[in-house]
Amino acid sequence: MTQTILVTGGCGYIGSHTVVELLQADHKVVILDNLCNSSAKVIERIKAIVQIKDQTHAEGNTLANDDSLTFIEGDIRDEALLKQIFITHPITSVIHFAGLKAVGESVSKPLEYYNNNVYGTLCLCQAMNKANVKTIVFSSSATVYGEDAPVPYNEAMPMGNTSNPYGTSKAMVEKMLADQCTADPQWRVAQLRYFNPIGAHKSGLIGEDPKGIPNNLLPYISQVAIGKRKELSVFGGDYPTPDGTGIRDYIHVVDLAKGHLKALNHIQQPSEKKKGEKGQGEHIWNLGTGQGYSVLEVIRAFEQASGKNIPYQIKPRRNGDLAAFWADANKAKAELNWVAAYTLNNMVSDSWRWQSNNPNGYS
Ligand code: NAD
Ligand code: WQD
Repeated sequence: MTQTILVTGGCGYIGSHTVVELLQADHKVVILDNLCNSSAKVIERIKAIVQIKDQTHAEGNTLANDDSLTFIEGDIRDEALLKQIFITHPITSVIHFAGLKAVGESVSKPLEYYNNNVYGTLCLCQAMNKANVKTIVFSSSATVYGEDAPVPYNEAMPMGNTSNPYGTSKAMVEKMLADQCTADPQWRVAQLRYFNPIGAHKSGLIGEDPKGIPNNLLPYISQVAIGKRKELSVFGGDYPTPDGTGIRDYIHVVDLAKGHLKALNHIQQPSEKKKGEKGQGEHIWNLGTGQGYSVLEVIRAFEQASGKNIPYQIKPRRNGDLAAFWADANKAKAELNWVAAYTLNNMVSDSWRWQSNNPNGYS
């Protein structure tokens, strides 16, 4: 059934890929994004992928966009704007990506992170409550398992001690949403704990476009490959892992995007009187592949896919990094019938296609 879904942060890396999947599944999408970490150009790229045509006057002026995709430039903390959006559009659910995500920056600017990620989500939820829209898919993170959880991480484990304000903001929002589910059984919440999203849409039209020096591994490797950066620093070569470098569960961003549709479908299932609540209440799912790769394995895979040499140097460990973690992906498989389909080779090939087609990202 076609629905209208509000996607906050829909111009960003994961949001834009999810919007493509939603439109391809015949949903209507309203994007709310303040563009603090993205570009409005992504809208044209999304339209090109899903082939939305702008209708034009004979004179050539734009008359109206196909109404399946609406972009609103604005902030989730703007209560009046949110109220207006819920009045104007027949929104049935929200997928909430908007937020700040740089771990290191969150340590130096904690107030900005709590303001945007926690207060912003609070504003959004209050506006949803008032509009009687009580279904939300939230972008959480594997970081909420904390520093001491045994691997693989599974959803039954308690949230751990987060080591930075970014991670704490995700844990706080998860708790807030869980409390709201307890208070009001009409709420339906999917807390999706992402592992390490990489890759890009196979069209090469949308992908990750970090501002400034990339913090994350794949954007850094891609910028070395394109000649923007001289060499990669590998943070730590003395971890207790087979090759001494850190291990992560990298997941293709399109697999991740598809997981959002499955999660949304699940939480929208009607309640079953006898068997209990199917979609209602709080649900937590890991979105990962269940398989870890080391930094050196990722470098080798990227070199093979791109034909480029990636010079690197082993440097000291990065503060706050863990040696190795990956997902127990069984719950999402059992409950959502979702498994990650793309291989590491697919992920790095698609990252490279995006980077080589768009050496300067969207600019
Ligand atoms: P991104 O920065 O590319 O996208 C976030 C989008 O939200 C951007 O377009 C930004 O402009 C927008 N935004 C930020 N604050 C806003 C506000 N107050 N109002 C409106 N728009 C706002 O990041 P991403 O990688 O696509 O991540 C999406 C979500 O997933 C984030 O919440 C992030 O914390 C979470 N997450 C990301 C990763 C990852 O590795 N990329 C891992 C786990 C969780
Ligand atoms: C991956 C591996 C690094 C860069 C972060 C957040 C996490 C989540 C995803 C949002 C590690 C190594 C990296 C480099 C390197 N984000 N590395 N040289 O740290 O696992 O997770 O992004 O929720 O919360 O913490 O991802 O891509 O930064 O690092 O050697 O230049 O690559 O040490 O082993 P991370 P990452």
